[in-house]
Amino acid sequence: MIYLFGALRGFLGGENINMVFREIELKSLMTNPFATLNDDWAILSAGTEKDFNAMTIGWGGMGVLWHKPVVTIFVRPQRYTKEFIDRFEMFTVSFFPQEHKNALVLLGSKSGREGDKIAESALTPAFIDGTVAFEEAHTVFVCRKLFGGQQLDASKFVDSALDSRFYPTKDYSFIYFGEIERILQHS
Ligand SMILES: Cc1cc2nc3c(=O)[nH]c(=O)nc-3n(C[C@H](O)[C@H](O)[C@H](O)COP(=O)(O)O)c2cc1C
Repeated sequence: MIYLFGALRGFLGGENINMVFREIELKSLMTNPFATLNDDWAILSAGTEKDFNAMTIGWGGMGVLWHKPVVTIFVRPQRYTKEFIDRFEMFTVSFFPQEHKNALVLLGSKSGREGDKIAESALTPAFIDGTVAFEEAHTVFVCRKLFGGQQLDASKFVDSALDSRFYPTKDYSFIYFGEIERILQHS
């Protein structure tokens, strides 16, 4: 029920999704991953019209692995979004214009377990390629999970200050690799 309104909005939005986004070639992507993730952040989403969730991320990687274009994400065990990343093969990483920063703050501070934060954010879910993104994004990576999640092994920290600083409650992140299957940009 919680997601009925969101799903309806997304379904209606889905009718013209090909007008909202256009696919671009991977090699024509113009982005600086350091500025993009660290300063602008992104939204990680997974699920379908029936049930989905999204959260803000600021850690991650973009690169090449197994000869494939790959994103790496780091998801703490308590995130509701983790349940969706684990359950579904597809996920998206979406990047937004500055005007939507408040929505990213919201999706990064409330849990989808506690209510419909996506409706509250006023972002419009866009169901595409069997997963979910948002119409307001300027760029969407549509990803297929290749590996994960494997939890960071605390015994492998070379600099133990990182462990105590970032994981005081020992909620070590799970790592996932996803192949970037398509890059969509707002038309
Ligand atoms: C700027 C920013 C970056 C974040 N990056 C991550 C991240 O990379 N990994 C993570 O697990 N949580 C990250 N978070 C925290 C989650 O977004 C936050 O806990 C969210 O409420 C989880 O929602 P959920 O329970 O609905 O999945 C970040 C939050 C903010 C504000």
